[in-house]
Amino acid sequence: MLLDATLSPSVQAAAQALARGELLGLPTETVYGLAADADNDAAVARIFAAKGRPADHPLIVHVAGSDMVPHYAREVPVFAQALMDAFWPGPLTLILPRLPGRAAAAAGGQSSVGLRCPAHPAAQTVLAECLLLAPPIHGLAAPSANRFGRVSPTTAAHVQDEFGPQLLVLDGGPCQVGIESTIVDCTRGVPVLLRPGAISRDDIERACGQRPLSKDELPALTPRASGTLLAHYAPTAQVRLMDARQLQAGLDVLGKDAKRLAVYARTALATPSSQVLLRRMPQDAAGAARELFSALRDFDDAGVALIWVETPPDSPDWEGVRDRLARAAAAG
Ligand code: TXA
Ligand code: MG
Repeated sequence: MLLDATLSPSVQAAAQALARGELLGLPTETVYGLAADADNDAAVARIFAAKGRPADHPLIVHVAGSDMVPHYAREVPVFAQALMDAFWPGPLTLILPRLPGRAAAAAGGQSSVGLRCPAHPAAQTVLAECLLLAPPIHGLAAPSANRFGRVSPTTAAHVQDEFGPQLLVLDGGPCQVGIESTIVDCTRGVPVLLRPGAISRDDIERACGQRPLSKDELPALTPRASGTLLAHYAPTAQVRLMDARQLQAGLDVLGKDAKRLAVYARTALATPSSQVLLRRMPQDAAGAARELFSALRDFDDAGVALIWVETPPDSPDWEGVRDRLARAAAAG
């Protein structure tokens, strides 16, 4: 069922459903989440079952603000505090040492916990309402509201497509960021970038004075993270990345025979076949991120077999989009 996130009875109904241990489709500024009370292990188990996600893949816990961090984290390194101060509420998840006994199922057996304070007003209102419950709910475990391995949802309708009409979904409109949060592991003494997102490596360096390492610079220590599996975020159609010249050459070779093909490019291209679905990718990284998953879903809905995508620029602000597209391409 869809509920309008701007109406306070909807938000109260959502909080009460969470208090009963039910799941909620929750809008955030990045993507929609599938939320449950992070301290209710039975409710969290329902998330894993609904997603078809292995129970040892940890979930992010969403909190109303940094005041809630001590409920879940044992310790906050100085650089992590600086990142929180700079980017919360916002699309940044911090992996911190977990307080034993807290968010155990959500943490998927890790001794750490991923915490994020979302900026979306609907997420903020639900989290505030949850704190008013008796007993309060301190945080919401919420992975992206898609089945395991699929493209993350950026509208309430996408969430319903994934889980059917029975799921309660707060409709907060289309997500403004469009790709999942940047994840920084803060349990290694130095910041380690586990998943690139809208907050770039440069942003992180500016805020805490340390350039984050990549996870492959610490191979033996990297915890399991499904967002970091290659071949994740895949539409049904096969994705191929090419530069604009290769794209145009491919189109020219196929000529009038080109069909069941989508082309998603920043560069203006000429298609020899009216059956090719040609869509322009926004020129800026934020715009491209905002519509990326929606575009991939649209191509699937149109029934194409192949999606040819122009390789994004190599600059730091495009790292999140490059990462998601590389994974989508690796899946086929
Ligand atoms: O933008 C987002 O982060 C969205 C919205 C809903 O907030 N959530 C999201 O959740 O993308 P999910 O579960 O699809 O991805 C969370 C990633 C996973 O790759 C998970 O393994 C990793 O975060 N993660 C969570 N807790 C972790 C931990 N303690 N250690 C390492 N990785 C962790
Ligand atoms: Mg996900």
